[in-house]
Amino acid sequence: MIPATVASKCCSSVVRGMGAASRLGGATRGMKIVSATPVNNGKQVDIEFENKSAYRFHTAWIRDASPSHVGPDFYRKSAKTLFEVDKYTAETCQPSESGEKLVVHFKNGVAENADSDEYVSSWLHAFAPHVGQPLNAHSELKEVLRGTGSVMEALHKNRKPWHADLKMPIFDAKELMESEEKQAEFLECMTDPGVALIKGVGGPESLETSVVGLPLEKLGSGIIGRMNQHPVRATRYGVMHAEARAAAAGADYDHANPLSMHADHSVYHGTPGYLQLMYQARGTVTSKVCDGIAVAEYIKENHPEDYELLTTVHITHGSRNQIYAQDGAYRQDTASPGATFELVHTHPVITIGEDGLLEKIVQSETKRGVSALPYDKYERFMEAYKLWTKLVEDPRFICNFEWPEHSVVAMNNHRTLHGRAKVPAGMERTMIFGYYQKTIVENRYRFLKQRLVEKQGTMLNDRWLTRLPNQILSKLV
Ligand SMILES: [Fe+2]
Repeated sequence: MIPATVASKCCSSVVRGMGAASRLGGATRGMKIVSATPVNNGKQVDIEFENKSAYRFHTAWIRDASPSHVGPDFYRKSAKTLFEVDKYTAETCQPSESGEKLVVHFKNGVAENADSDEYVSSWLHAFAPHVGQPLNAHSELKEVLRGTGSVMEALHKNRKPWHADLKMPIFDAKELMESEEKQAEFLECMTDPGVALIKGVGGPESLETSVVGLPLEKLGSGIIGRMNQHPVRATRYGVMHAEARAAAAGADYDHANPLSMHADHSVYHGTPGYLQLMYQARGTVTSKVCDGIAVAEYIKENHPEDYELLTTVHITHGSRNQIYAQDGAYRQDTASPGATFELVHTHPVITIGEDGLLEKIVQSETKRGVSALPYDKYERFMEAYKLWTKLVEDPRFICNFEWPEHSVVAMNNHRTLHGRAKVPAGMERTMIFGYYQKTIVENRYRFLKQRLVEKQGTMLNDRWLTRLPNQILSKLV
């Protein structure tokens, strides 16, 4: 038990931080501060929380971490503060608003340099096991935090494989555009199950390349962010027509040439296209998707040696892209000279992340290049690779779905494989596609989760929720 703090002596000082009218949110219950005491001549502060956990914090850390140092642009107001924080000691610490806040009175030599700052208790509680020294058996010391992490992490860890009977999640475009709650739900859906249909996107003004994809671009920028920019193409989105000219653009664009189940961006280093949105600008078709996790888990369980090879042997996807011209148009649509470029990517079919979970599937048979497979593994690896390509076509794993005109199929391209849509005879079809990078998606989700807490009108406003590591923020949102 930590002794009760001494009475505050900060009457003449400026109290910075949040307004007194703030309230504590439901997510922060049980994290009130019951006592806080400066120790070691104020160099540290011992804080005990309502759940009996207690930690010793560095006063300089508390000082340095305050949102008071940050301007409305969320940047630190001064680069000099760094050299001042450790000169401050805590004179008194006083829980306030029934322990929902902590007022720390700092001093730095002369009286003019003294001031007070307010902290949200739940915010300190979230950091405590990472930055504090545990003071009793109710407290824990977390492993040293490494890496950027993700607010999606818990969801990522709990992904469930799906099979042919997947019930395709459906969103309404208008509702998605208007609701941050729905947008967060949609991005969660992009982690698990990793596929959804968005209906009611509306039709394009015309089928001209420069405008046909604008409904998709508007939807994507409204709910996720900016679409990935192609290295050559003038538009961020790509266009596929089910017409005679499609075949001239390449096998990928030829709707008469069935593609096996695949991931996109297999030839791009690192597979930057994390989310993929495909917009049916014209025509109604049926299409199919398959869960890479379900197939990977099946192979792991039933063919462990094949699984080992698919996760460790690196294959090469590569191509020379000659679809576009220097003006950014499709080559057959322009007199501009060609803008040919090379692509190569070497990686395992199944990439396992540092957390031991599936990170991404990268495989597309038509884009498979020449792989430098070791002599002693060649035959056995090719068996494993054929097993993979057969299983991703196996009806047990394939979910067929209707894809109506003016709707969008959204999928996690690191998890969900897709095949070529079945286009009814005589139907003219135009499909628009675009990609979103993982960091854009993850930071959009982080922002939406912050916004949902901020809208509750609790103490945890944007001053407190921005600039935190994802691992800490996850505890607060
Ligand atoms: Fe594709």
